[in-house]
Amino acid sequence: MTTATSPGVPGQTAGPAATKAGCSGCGGCGRCGGPGCGDRRRRPGGASTPAGVNIRTTRTLLTTLEAVKDKQVDVTVFDTHGGAGTFREQFESLVKELGGAQDPHAFGTIREIKVDPKAIKSIAMAAGPHPDHTDGTFDASSPSHFLLGVQTPDTDPNSGRTVLKSVRHLLSKIPTAYGEALKRAEIRYARTDEDGRVDTYDGHILEPLPSGEFAFRWRHDDQVRPEVVYDAGYPIVEAIEWVRGYLRETSGVRLTLLQGQILVIKNFRVTHGRDPLSGLDSPRLLLRAWIKRED
Ligand SMILES: [Fe+2]
Repeated sequence: MTTATSPGVPGQTAGPAATKAGCSGCGGCGRCGGPGCGDRRRRPGGASTPAGVNIRTTRTLLTTLEAVKDKQVDVTVFDTHGGAGTFREQFESLVKELGGAQDPHAFGTIREIKVDPKAIKSIAMAAGPHPDHTDGTFDASSPSHFLLGVQTPDTDPNSGRTVLKSVRHLLSKIPTAYGEALKRAEIRYARTDEDGRVDTYDGHILEPLPSGEFAFRWRHDDQVRPEVVYDAGYPIVEAIEWVRGYLRETSGVRLTLLQGQILVIKNFRVTHGRDPLSGLDSPRLLLRAWIKRED
């Protein structure tokens, strides 16, 4: 079961997602009211939470692939239980079905994410909170989709919850001048890895894609944040502060990850982050893969 709590946007009261009595879990039947609930009866598209994040929960590979292609779906949660092969084999199979993994040299094609106090350059491998971001901000070709597979969840279901916030919602609220600044002003994201290698992206926070859509690139933490290279006459500093404030005040959707789940996340459609883990001894182990970018 995937659980979600505290959907909300500025101006709305956040609170726990409503659930109906008598349902033991969300298999998409429409009884529990959780994200993706009702998907077996409501087609196409996923369930939209009050925070505007469309999540689809599936149990079959075919439905998973359909959901990932569906433009209405932001996040697909695939339950591997009952599937053929080990969890890792199913993860690798899904990566292949979706077009294969990109190889960010800093992480390898399939990255294992687990607390490691020695990885001082990695927020993902620290036990503290992971701020809202999109993956690969510093990569020339940040992924359009990525997978998170839950090999081992945290021991405390209230720790390490994944936080998702809708980019569509954010862009519908942003003042026009700030939205233009994200498209026109030039910024740089630079990351130095554990070995001193630097990856850099120079471009826009809203990067235009050949499809006519925009890739939202966002990260703002103590290691990587947008540095303004050229403002092009647009209020980019103010725009960055507006985005920070929006994300700070927006609850989004919180998911408790369960063993055997694989999340397929559309990287430009939702930001993702994480609540603090239960501690430095958290056993949480995720597999992550970036899918080769489709423009
Ligand atoms: Fe991430």
